[in-house]
Amino acid sequence: MGILKDCINNKNTNSIPVWFMRQAGRYLPEFRNIRSKNTNFIDLCLNPNLSKEITLQPLKRFKIDAAIIFSDILLIPYALGQKVEFEKNFGPRLGDLNVNDILKVSDDEIKKKLNPVYDLINKTSQDDILKNKDLIGFVGGLWTLLVYMLNKQSPKKGNIDFFSNQNHNILIKKIIHTQKLHIKNQVSKGASVIQIFDSWAGLLNQDKYEDYIYKPTKELVEFIKSLGVEAICFPRNIKSYKEFCQTVKPNAICIDYEVDPIEIAEKIEIPIQGGMNPNFLLLEKNEMLKNARKYLEIFKNHKYIFNLGHGVIPQTNPENVKILVDYVKEFK
Ligand code: CP3
Repeated sequence: MGILKDCINNKNTNSIPVWFMRQAGRYLPEFRNIRSKNTNFIDLCLNPNLSKEITLQPLKRFKIDAAIIFSDILLIPYALGQKVEFEKNFGPRLGDLNVNDILKVSDDEIKKKLNPVYDLINKTSQDDILKNKDLIGFVGGLWTLLVYMLNKQSPKKGNIDFFSNQNHNILIKKIIHTQKLHIKNQVSKGASVIQIFDSWAGLLNQDKYEDYIYKPTKELVEFIKSLGVEAICFPRNIKSYKEFCQTVKPNAICIDYEVDPIEIAEKIEIPIQGGMNPNFLLLEKNEMLKNARKYLEIFKNHKYIFNLGHGVIPQTNPENVKILVDYVKEFK
């Protein structure tokens, strides 16, 4: 347990906790090296030795306060028997969705397929490098999982409405059941915080928020709290983070880079995470730090976890990440 958890629990910390979404990824040459020899991404996620090594790679370089498991939100459709592949320069490509087949998949089968993830968590949480630091587990939000499972690839911008004619209630129940199973197993093996990634929240019509975002996410948050750990929610590009927080009641909220941080600081009282545009890491050092300082100043009187408004992008120079982390750690 480290200062990330302290901050989420409203305790004072000696410095501002910092970690990054996609901190383990293609911007690191040591990741690309492993990845080039492991062309099947799912197999790599399900190799506990390699996924542990990748999870810890950023901690060996930077003074960050948490590791996030090297895994993927699409392991849930994979565990439910939907085909999931990652194609170079395309992203995820899923197979046809057969709801009847998915409903037949037992909890034991799911657990067996995802067991390497729990092995990874078990091994990683015991590593000395995580002493006094947190290990973040995660799941995709229901809506984002539905988007991938029904759309079978990353959605194009625009409004998605899959639900005008179809009733997906049984599928939704099965996904929520699987999310809970996956969360429970992650926590029991040593995940100390769970982040819920609802990356495509911004694509949903507001009149559907209650059914596809608020209600299912609240259920997960309550479940996570009942396990004795904290839930960070990232409903990316949602219309109102304030309404989301009031309804879902996460322990902390992660914000995107399009929302105005000043407005967030005025309206939201719970611990806040993230916000800075990942593209700022591509700028000249002083420009990057100027932007980081903006977030640090705005949230000076808040519980704040430094992170970005989305994942680190592959073109990022790791040296800039180091400079940024050192800056945040020294900020008073
Ligand atoms: O370091 C970390 O943040 C932990 C690992 C992590 C990955 N995926 C590894 C990954 C996490 C937390 C995720 C979550 C995830 N996966 C999300 C939610 C967060 C977000 O980015 O919005 C989503 C939508 C996915 C689905 C997914 N996985 C996509 C759309 C892609 C392809 C696009 C891309 O960025 O490459 C992936 C592949 C993926 N997941 C990679 C990594 C490191 C890149 C794999 C590679 O090609 O080497």
